[in-house]
Amino acid sequence: MDRIRIVGGNRLNGTIPVSGAKNAALPLMIASLLTRETLTLDNVPRLADVALLKRILGNHGVDCMVLGKRQGQNGLAGESIELRAGDIVDTTAPYDLVSRMRASFWVVGPLIARMGEAKVSLPGGCAIGTRPVDFFIDALRTLGADIEIEAGYVLAKAKNGLRGARVTFPKVTVGATHVTLMAASLARGETVIENAAREPEIVDLARCLTAMGAKISGAGTSTIHVEGVPALHAARHTVMADRIEAGTYAMAVAATGGDVFLEGATTDTLETPLEILRRVGAEIEATNHGIRVRRNGHGLAPVDVTTEPFPGFATDLQAQLMALVARADGSSHIRETIFENRFMHVQELARLGADIHLDGQVATVRGVPKLTGAPVMATDLRASVSLVIAGLAAEGETVVNRVYHLDRGFERIEDKLGACGAEIERLSG
Ligand code: EPZ
Repeated sequence: MDRIRIVGGNRLNGTIPVSGAKNAALPLMIASLLTRETLTLDNVPRLADVALLKRILGNHGVDCMVLGKRQGQNGLAGESIELRAGDIVDTTAPYDLVSRMRASFWVVGPLIARMGEAKVSLPGGCAIGTRPVDFFIDALRTLGADIEIEAGYVLAKAKNGLRGARVTFPKVTVGATHVTLMAASLARGETVIENAAREPEIVDLARCLTAMGAKISGAGTSTIHVEGVPALHAARHTVMADRIEAGTYAMAVAATGGDVFLEGATTDTLETPLEILRRVGAEIEATNHGIRVRRNGHGLAPVDVTTEPFPGFATDLQAQLMALVARADGSSHIRETIFENRFMHVQELARLGADIHLDGQVATVRGVPKLTGAPVMATDLRASVSLVIAGLAAEGETVVNRVYHLDRGFERIEDKLGACGAEIERLSG
């Protein structure tokens, strides 16, 4: 199993190209199941989760073709892929595939909408919490699906197709909003999604579905209207920039000091994290092509932050922020409200010398003057990268084990950070 070795203490200076967003690419790829025509996606990140989803979609009968490099593209440019679900040959998503990546459960929406049936394994819990699927099931039932749970599988049927309805989520949910949007696009009549997630990835999916012929309005607000159409068609769409990757590197620069241009990052998807970074002591400058993040000389100020659905502070940046304020001049309070178990990084950060006290969903981080490198291990993607940030800011050597978590969501992290002066390398085997 690969590991990442970091010798901390170097400031970061240079340019980091921001990749296409994993959490946009996954639902966009799944949307290819909605049409028999070709969906072309540009700027798809090269990630383990994307590769796994290609396999899962292949199992349903989707042909996936990676297009060749184009003039002027360098190795860090995203892939262009063509997805063609001409005939769906299998409406079952088996346990061994779904259990490896939770988002693959989302195929349930397009499969039931297009084929009138789906058999999809329940994903089960994961390192960050129990993560139930009741909101998906309630939403699909509201759209007219018959759903039974049998032997760990969701069996969904809608012999005469889905019909539009009012779907009101009891809590903001990104995944169930994606699935309802996809399913409603092919339902008969109008669907209104209330308390919809407002995440930029929802807007990206709605844009792509619209290019495929769907009739959607209100994406990016809490109420989305979808007028179902009988069929969708071919389209070409560019995956949005990864706001979580950009926010992560911004925190890394704030942690080490230095001056980095995050090429392709957009401020409108990052307003709250950037505001918090300013409070911590970073200077942020937005341009048309990206975001410049600097910290020179100043110490780090503590902050109080609560994770919230967009436009609030993203849970996917919580661990990284904790690594950053571990060296602040004072105490920070970080409250996690989205997932009940997303503090697995706390004990590992403590191995580097961080002083963090957990009380239920609130972490109190008492800033320490320095962190010291150590071997660490992570249990999920964002926790792993928080350890990379802490390692970059620590004195001495840190080895992050279980790098496969990082490979799920960060494209060539060691190359991107290495190009900015970090001493970081991948150790194979
Ligand atoms: C998406 O997960 C993201 N995943 C997560 O990113 C992200 O942390 C999360 O949204 C919140 O922003 C992808 O986009 C692939 P939810 P999702 O449904 O859709 C509860 C990462 O690191 N809930 O918005 O699974 C749920 O338990 C990942 O890239 C139910 O109770 O999250 C949670 O408390 C991790 N029942 C809350 O809602 C349901 O049926 C929000 O979850 C569904 C969700």
